[in-house]
Amino acid sequence: MTKTLVSGIKPTGTLHIGNYFGAMRQFVELQHTYQPFVFIADLHSLTTIHSKVELQRSTFDIACAYLAIGLDPEQVILFKQSDVPEVTELAWIFNCITSVPYLERAHAFKDAAAKNTEINVGLFDYPVLMAADILMYDADVVPVGKDQKQHIEIARDIAIKFNNTFEEIFRIPEPLILKEVEVILGTDGQKMSKSYKNTIPLFGSEDEITKSVMSIKTDSKNLGEKLDADSDLVFSFHKLVSSEEQLLDLRSQYEMGSIGYGESKKLLLEKLLDYFKDAHKRYDELQKNPEIVYAALALGKERARAKAVEKINTVRKVVGVLE
Ligand code: TYM
Repeated sequence: MTKTLVSGIKPTGTLHIGNYFGAMRQFVELQHTYQPFVFIADLHSLTTIHSKVELQRSTFDIACAYLAIGLDPEQVILFKQSDVPEVTELAWIFNCITSVPYLERAHAFKDAAAKNTEINVGLFDYPVLMAADILMYDADVVPVGKDQKQHIEIARDIAIKFNNTFEEIFRIPEPLILKEVEVILGTDGQKMSKSYKNTIPLFGSEDEITKSVMSIKTDSKNLGEKLDADSDLVFSFHKLVSSEEQLLDLRSQYEMGSIGYGESKKLLLEKLLDYFKDAHKRYDELQKNPEIVYAALALGKERARAKAVEKINTVRKVVGVLE
């Protein structure tokens, strides 16, 4: 039987190449090996975004991005999380078997608590909704970046708890985290993240991408000095978009001191623009033809709901709210 892949992206801010290499590229590569359910996690965004315009904009942009990078909407069940309201019912049921101290150990909650920001209940409960996303569709694998690892572990724990408490109806999902791209660094050397303002945008204009690439931090070696490819941030980006041969060539230029950081950045910019050229073109077309995007989401909604309705009915019976 074909195995199931489930993953999602939260529509907050603009997508960056960390999202692409850490997760989205895997969706594309695995779309014919698994039955994929790929969604836009708009309900999760509500924990931080309270602007209707912003939420709708980001949601649409992610839908365009999914199609632009090459997800086939006939093959992939592509949908908006909120189009399947059964997921919130499942999250409620999971809430009732999940303890407060257990959720207090989640990194995202601990980080927010350490910053003394006001934490809404949605943020606290974020991992439980995520468990519902994953377990609803009987995921076998969940391709994500390393920052989501704990969330998948929580989903596994909740599945085990439910199966032990009621009946064994949930599959235990595995995270799919590729070592080489588990944490894509940002232009300042920290993890690339929307909240650190250190991103290289995935679908930015040429100017925006140029600005980001040129701002990549380097050490202060002078032109003509040897550069260390293994510790250089610019080189780490080259690894994402170069062939083996190109990398070997660049490495030897670094070792000989025949290339400076400025030139390496220009070369990187060229490679990046070329790597994403087709996706950018499709993205622009989709932005101008929203009906194509909405049609894909409508198809996905229907198929995702068919699965979710079946699953939630089993859950309802097992917990006793349905005869
Ligand atoms: P989000 O929207 O923050 O990120 C989307 C995906 O991009 C990955 N990612 C990275 N990977 C490597 N290096 C980076 N610097 C980097 N930054 C982001 C993330 O790991 C993620 O895979 N909670 C999720 C959305 C979600 C979800 C789910 C995911 C909701 N329900 C169910 C999987 C399954 C999130 O906020 O991802």
